Amino acid sequence: MCGIVGYIGQPSQLNRHSSLDVLMEGLKRLEYRGYDSAGIAVVADGAVEHRKKAGKLANLSTELEERPVPVASVGIGHTRWATHGGPTDLNAHPHLADDDQLSVIHNGIIENFAELKKELLAHGVTFRSETDTEVAAALLGHIYRTEAGQDLTKAMQLTSQRLEGAFTLLAVHADHPDRVVASRKNSPLVVGLGEGENFLGSDVSGFIDFTRRAVELEQDQVVTITADAVEITDFSGRPAQGKEFTVDWDAAAAEKGGFATFMEKEIHDQPHAVADTLLGRSDTEGNLILDELRIDEDELKSIRKIIVLACGTSSYAGMVAKYAIERWCRIPVEVELSHEFRYRDPIIDANTLVVSISQSGETMDTLMAVRYAKEQGARTVSICNTNGSTIPRESDAVLYTHAGPEIAVASTKAFLAQITAAYLLGLYMAQLTKKLYSQEIRDILADLAEIPAKVQQILDNADQIKGLARAMSEASSVLFLGRNVGYPVALEGALKLKELAYIHAEGFAAGELKHGPIALIDEGQPVFVVVPSPMDRHSLHAKVVSNIQEVRARGAKTIVVAEAGDEAVKEYAEQVFYVPETQPMLMPLLTTVPLQIFACELATAKGFDVDQPRNLAKSVTVE
Ligand code: F6R
Repeated sequence: MCGIVGYIGQPSQLNRHSSLDVLMEGLKRLEYRGYDSAGIAVVADGAVEHRKKAGKLANLSTELEERPVPVASVGIGHTRWATHGGPTDLNAHPHLADDDQLSVIHNGIIENFAELKKELLAHGVTFRSETDTEVAAALLGHIYRTEAGQDLTKAMQLTSQRLEGAFTLLAVHADHPDRVVASRKNSPLVVGLGEGENFLGSDVSGFIDFTRRAVELEQDQVVTITADAVEITDFSGRPAQGKEFTVDWDAAAAEKGGFATFMEKEIHDQPHAVADTLLGRSDTEGNLILDELRIDEDELKSIRKIIVLACGTSSYAGMVAKYAIERWCRIPVEVELSHEFRYRDPIIDANTLVVSISQSGETMDTLMAVRYAKEQGARTVSICNTNGSTIPRESDAVLYTHAGPEIAVASTKAFLAQITAAYLLGLYMAQLTKKLYSQEIRDILADLAEIPAKVQQILDNADQIKGLARAMSEASSVLFLGRNVGYPVALEGALKLKELAYIHAEGFAAGELKHGPIALIDEGQPVFVVVPSPMDRHSLHAKVVSNIQEVRARGAKTIVVAEAGDEAVKEYAEQVFYVPETQPMLMPLLTTVPLQIFACELATAKGFDVDQPRNLAKSVTVE
């Protein structure tokens, strides 16, 4: 997830504003989409001039003060959230091609970049960075000179046909100072309409300071903007229409995608967070390709024990990982809170794989635990959302989650992306060790691919859970029960409620109830129950339904999250929230979502700041 902005005005109108003013304003507004590097390119005096810098936008501003670019009426700008290649000056966008006359920025992931790169190398093209974007830029430059007869729009159409994955691309060329050409596939892009000027943005916040008239594009479209016109086509060049709308959000709401808070936005980002984390990690035959896992295959095959290290929400993702990896790979998995781990003389050797999970990649407790594990001889893999952060840098290998920056302090979309990445790791290990048949892996991947649409379905039908949250705003204690993979979901539901709404909340394994916690149940005590799928192979469904009856008999108000079609729970629940069906192991990706919405809505009803709950920090860099 990166931020993209494009601008074209009339050279005679430069006194109004230059492309640089527009680009920098847009990037400021889009910085929430990524902030590990930023760059701009403008076309002036028959040449493309660009500046780019690792770090926050302020670094680019300083660079531009020291090395100004000529005043121009056309340009593109980018703020990056790294995927391929670390957050360095070199890997920052724009990327150049066609003898530095073409400049390209990109949001998304090009899945087939490795094979395209091979093809371009064979044509004598050279590369400067490690990014998939440079491959897209080089392909565009190559097609521009060969097949497209130096027509930039045609070159973009042909290039888009060759690229697999998700992308928004924007390009400017020294030969065409009168246009910006862009393309979109499964990645956001909106056009802004001005008077004698036009804009492009990842979202409307990229140009909201200049115009409120915007055009929505469909997937798989190419758009060419000039100062006076907007021309849209599909990838084959057939003319297409966009849908015009007026932006009625204020600028602050715009960067939250029209939501009141980053938390709500991030909950709604989750279909993308899961889809992007899956993207490019399996081939068309359903084989997992985790190139980033730079640990030798034989070493991975010799792993006899896995220890997952994490804190808070990330540790609950680790618990889901345990269920999945043990089931699929038959390798024992321990999950440990990072801060407990190194103070208990853990047993580690060269056949131990330590998997750390951290959204920020900077959590001191987890970093220290990873360092300790390395010292003891373990191989270390980091599941992380922040490219170039310390934990992945210090680990032997990294599997990035592609949730995009998480701004709200309490984690939501990173959690779903972490679980997704953990499944991929488990499936990869099962593929290597042949503990699952290829067909089984293909089936699980196919079910995973359906998750984003199912999460969307939950988000689209959130009125019932929101209504309940508002009605429960005076609750003083809420309990959450779950079993098997539903247990970490119960823990996460409770943590979200504590953090956001400051309500006492506890999560329990449903089977543990009778060993003590049932004493808490009193008349009217709200209890959420995350019910396993009726298809669960251990027949846990019936056991959890009995638990619901037990608490209900003692006066609890039971609220159930269950799989669509599960009629058995209805009789014992005051309210049932159904999530779409999937295989039992993948249920956490769905059952978590209503609990997040519940906590967020309840906290909002109480008037709390859900983006910055009291006493908490996004990145806990002290032990
Ligand atoms: C809860 C939350 C925290 C983090 C924990 C670990 O909503 O966000 O519990 O999960 O502080 O942080 P990371 O994943 O950055 O290591």
